[in-house]
Amino acid sequence: MTTRTPLMVGNWKMNLDWTQAQALVEELGDLLKGHDSSSVEVAVLPPFVDLRTVQVVVDAGKLPIAYGAQDISQHESGAYTGEISGAMLTALGCTFVAVGHSERRQYHGEDETITNAKVKAALAAGLTPILCVGEPLEERKAGNQVEYTLAQLKGGLQGLSPEEAAKVVVAYEPVWAIGTGEVATPEDAQEVCGAIRETLGSEFSAEVADSVRVLYGGSVKSSNVAEIMAKPDVDGALVGGASLKADEFAKIVEGAR
Ligand code: 13P
Repeated sequence: MTTRTPLMVGNWKMNLDWTQAQALVEELGDLLKGHDSSSVEVAVLPPFVDLRTVQVVVDAGKLPIAYGAQDISQHESGAYTGEISGAMLTALGCTFVAVGHSERRQYHGEDETITNAKVKAALAAGLTPILCVGEPLEERKAGNQVEYTLAQLKGGLQGLSPEEAAKVVVAYEPVWAIGTGEVATPEDAQEVCGAIRETLGSEFSAEVADSVRVLYGGSVKSSNVAEIMAKPDVDGALVGGASLKADEFAKIVEGAR
């Protein structure tokens, strides 16, 4: 029996300005009143410019909501115009940071080398990287989903010690299921999430495989979350569109139990 605490993460992507972020976190806080984070952990990943607002609302209300960023610079500090460092995120009370989201890989040219450097930058700053992996449609059609995703996983975790790897969260997000309404079947999710866990075991150790949380992402809603969460190697969800509505995201959290 696993001791992994389920983790439900809302990735807001490039949505909501700071006033809208404030309203959403306040509403979510009301809906999650009395929520026990030790049974299901809840986190949101707002745009950078909303993080200070989220911090103030969460701190003031002592809300059971962790938060983090959608990206991090691979560099520590200095002349990197437009970049945000791990230390800046830690100073804002962030716990998590998404790394290697397929939208970063696709639209911002982030390859395995950059993703790996960002995972290391996150760990060095004391943040938990949520390493996003997953195949595009053509790889799925060719039956290469496991092989493709595991190559991204190994690339992202390259050079980590078992102690470091144990701190990472992995999110399996098949690209064809993101924002399309086409959710992977629970069996599809389990196939790849199970393979990810096996690889964590062979690359690092059985302890790492047992402790790392593997999330599923791609068109998760309150109506499909329970069947996906029922799979043994799925420890949570990375939710895009459905995390922008407080009541729907609260229902998704409820579905994780
Ligand atoms: P959707 O839930 O909107 O499909 O997005 C998934 C995702 O990319 C989360 O990171």
